Amino acid sequence: MDKVAVIGAGHVGLVTASTFAEKGKTVICVDNDHGKIAQIKTGKLPFYEPGLDELVKRHFEKNLYFTTSIAEAVKKSEFIFICVGTPPKKNGEADLSSVERVGRAIGEHLDGYKIVVEKSTVPVETGKWLRKTIAVRSGKTIFDVACNPEFLREGSAVHDALFPDRIVLGLTSEKARKKFEHFYKDFDCPKVFCDLQTAELIKHASNAFLSMKISFINMISLLCDQVGADVEKVAEGMGLDPRIGHAFLQAGIGFGGFCFPKDLQAFTHMAAKAGVRFELLKEVMRINNKMKEVFLEKLKKKIWILKDKTIAVWGLSFKPNTDDMRFAPSVDIIKDLVKHGACVRAFDPQAHHEAKKVLPQSVVFCRSPLDAAEGTEALLLLTEWECFKRANLKKVKQKMNPPYILGDGRNLFDPEKARKLGFDYFCMGRA
Ligand code: UGA
Repeated sequence: MDKVAVIGAGHVGLVTASTFAEKGKTVICVDNDHGKIAQIKTGKLPFYEPGLDELVKRHFEKNLYFTTSIAEAVKKSEFIFICVGTPPKKNGEADLSSVERVGRAIGEHLDGYKIVVEKSTVPVETGKWLRKTIAVRSGKTIFDVACNPEFLREGSAVHDALFPDRIVLGLTSEKARKKFEHFYKDFDCPKVFCDLQTAELIKHASNAFLSMKISFINMISLLCDQVGADVEKVAEGMGLDPRIGHAFLQAGIGFGGFCFPKDLQAFTHMAAKAGVRFELLKEVMRINNKMKEVFLEKLKKKIWILKDKTIAVWGLSFKPNTDDMRFAPSVDIIKDLVKHGACVRAFDPQAHHEAKKVLPQSVVFCRSPLDAAEGTEALLLLTEWECFKRANLKKVKQKMNPPYILGDGRNLFDPEKARKLGFDYFCMGRA
């Protein structure tokens, strides 16, 4: 049975560890945060991810173990997956200090052949540095470094990790290739074998391309607003071309989360360091930031003065099925509303706990979507959770006060239906 260490019990690490356990591997997951490991051991996960707690429960202390000792994990494993954070520095560059720290610790405890695998998103050449760091600390060269980037999406991470659409493996030896062919033999998807730098680039290029698709359709939505076209239909018509595809053509208030904004910055920075000016990616980010402003402008055109107005916000997390608030568009939008003197009543099915840490104190967190709408003049839909799609808008309107503004930041509702119900409705790129 493959023996695996997963270093880092964050979103990527915990999902990686528990899905490997589900695939029959013996997994030991390490984190230097004692509180986090203690919490996981009591059965309470540090974040919400559908299906993850069942997986952890099923394998806990059968073939999935948790520890704070990196020495123990390294000694007991042949594959060591590094899943620690690579947050942005002030200048946008990825902060790789955790990766280096882990590399040193692995080097200190290396006691035989192991494969050290980068799973976190890292800039090109991290693998080379990692190899050097481990070799210097261990005084040995009998190990391999590999890059096996993750492509999982928050909210569907368990499914994405169990049924990936591809597995990318950047390798430096034939031995490592044979080991990985065996390791991933039960995963029925294309496998791309390449060198380290290529694998590192595939991950960054994929995220950059997807963000570009979103910003592209968002620019089209601005154009639709001006010429009276419908961005949803434009996306439908474009997406039917198999070279374009339907995915990631959903216009709205832009992307958030800890991956796209951070990776775009890190990628632009890395390209510049390599002497390549990737201005296209800067524009992708600029457009993304602009979408929130456009949405707020649309609201201000309808409501005029924000001061002392009560406004409902439906959806706070950066996307549905997660409680993750990092770079969520709702944060900037709500801060702007509060700055202009509005009172915000918010509801999100999962994110209240995380949202309280980053939103202004004056925000009122409500028990239900209907409760949030109570006594408000405008309702803003910022995250397209399924429960909002199914909401009875007639009842919602009864809770609200005139002029019944409904701002749909994700084009979730039917404009005609909303207007028929008497809402002063606006959305992104649809008349
Ligand atoms: C993204 C990638 O999709 C994953 O493949 C990758 O592994 C991950 O980053 C990572 O690097 O770790 P994630 O950030 O979890 O995953 O979520 P996405 O589903 O990609 O959504 C990102 C943002 O784009 C969300 O704010 C979403 O609302 C927005 N989005 C997405 C749109 O505005 N329009 C779309 O058409 C699609």
